Amino acid sequence: MDAAELLETMRTRRSIRRYEDRPISHDVLCRLLEAGRWGPSAHNRQPCRFAVITDPARRVDLAQAMGRRFQADLLAEGLPVEQVEAQVARSIERISTAPALILACLSMAEMDQYSDAVRQQSEYLMAAQSVALAVQNILLMAHAEKLGACWLCAPLFCPDVVRESLHLPADWQAQALLTLGYPAEQRFKDREPFETKTLWY
Ligand SMILES: Cc1cc2nc3c(=O)[nH]c(=O)nc-3n(C[C@H](O)[C@H](O)[C@H](O)COP(=O)(O)O)c2cc1C
Repeated sequence: MDAAELLETMRTRRSIRRYEDRPISHDVLCRLLEAGRWGPSAHNRQPCRFAVITDPARRVDLAQAMGRRFQADLLAEGLPVEQVEAQVARSIERISTAPALILACLSMAEMDQYSDAVRQQSEYLMAAQSVALAVQNILLMAHAEKLGACWLCAPLFCPDVVRESLHLPADWQAQALLTLGYPAEQRFKDREPFETKTLWY
């Protein structure tokens, strides 16, 4: 692949939220995980952990458990009940009907530990940045595999619910849920020119 092809892959990747009802093969999912594995990470400590969920019953369980917490949070915010019901139903539908889910988690197990809170916060941030880079590799690989994918931030708001539903190891902190499938929609998005967001010295 030359530089122009790489840029084109980056430019044409979109967040895709509707999928065909068609499974993703195990081999394809392994190639996505392999792409994630090669992301850069702070001190090369590789703090990213993945849970792959293809079993339909598991997807529904996870979606419903997250939905219950989402509903409680929205009601606590004072949103009208009909609006809450609609948002929760949409969330459950998106998570439970995606042919595959990859949950990206962060583990601090191999990261440095500091007694001082500021340095510890920086170390945590480096782990989170490393997870994000692994996820970006997966998103680009998914695009190259002609899959659609979307990053959902929902697990960040209910990590305990996600851990309990999937029986995750204690040190796995849920960061992002990727929904994956063969695209059933096209999306168009643009970006601001980099000149508007860059200082040159
Ligand atoms: C940290 C992060 C959190 C996101 N959370 C969500 C989400 O919860 N739901 C969603 O539909 N898209 C989510 N997205 C996708 C963004 O909405 C999307 O990347 C953005 O609108 C640009 O569109 P594009 O990916 O098609 O270029 C998230 C993306 C990132 C990087």
